Amino acid sequence: MRHVIVAANWKMNTTPADAGELAATIGARTREPDVVRVICPPFVCLAAVRDGLAGPDVVAADGSGVAVGAQNVHHEQAGAFTGETSAAMLAGLATWVIVGHSERRRDAGETDELIGRKLRAARAAGLRTILCVGEQLDEREAGRAEAVVDAQVRGCLDGADLAALGVEDGLPWLTIAYEPVWAIGTGRTARGADAAAMAVRIRATLAALGMPGGGDGVPVLYGGSVTSSSIGEFLAEPDIDGALVGGASLKPDEMAGIVARAGLTAAARRGPADSGSPAGPAPLAAKTT
Ligand code: PGA
Repeated sequence: MRHVIVAANWKMNTTPADAGELAATIGARTREPDVVRVICPPFVCLAAVRDGLAGPDVVAADGSGVAVGAQNVHHEQAGAFTGETSAAMLAGLATWVIVGHSERRRDAGETDELIGRKLRAARAAGLRTILCVGEQLDEREAGRAEAVVDAQVRGCLDGADLAALGVEDGLPWLTIAYEPVWAIGTGRTARGADAAAMAVRIRATLAALGMPGGGDGVPVLYGGSVTSSSIGEFLAEPDIDGALVGGASLKPDEMAGIVARAGLTAAARRGPADSGSPAGPAPLAAKTT
């Protein structure tokens, strides 16, 4: 059974002075132990967010809380790369990282090959990865969306040790966020059925690449103008495991609504708490780090 994950991508918003309080507010308002929550602030706000999420209003008695993620990572370990941040530098600040976001593909010219190197560097340093893929509008209109995403997944995972990207300690090393570029920040979402079809295609690609378990264990999130109003359409799809949320993730009310809806899906997947059947799904590990 796959986890339900809600990851917040704050993009280039917040400052070290206000990020910790915002994270603490969101953390306290999203206490759904079965939902894996991740907040990805700008690099300079990572420490403030980590500290803001450490309080008793956020961390449950069992130690579960909200994980911290970075929005990017450099593919090399160290060296003459002015302005860059390595995976090792993120240790102690973050446990997750987003790679391959379409805004970085667009603005920083990131290629699938480079994103694959980032993914491998992140894994080597012990960071769980959210790999973003998604087609442009003209590609969807031309009927090429699945082929484009298939090529992105293949290109980014080329050379990766797929056996090392499965679930460990109850959490996945690899999560894929399907984010149609035309839906990001536009207020226009994909249809739930289309996103689910893409999730199926992504898992078929993972299976073809030789992912252990055929990709069934890899969570696939939807991203692109997700709000508390639109999340339900995506979580109604069994093949969609949560969301990568941009604009709405800066609003505690929105995050509370999104995570509450995700909690319903997580509870439904878990099944009756008292089923007691050894063949039934195990309770989800609530820890998020
Ligand atoms: P959005 O961004 O929710 O603001 O569309 C999503 C993303 O870019 O991850």
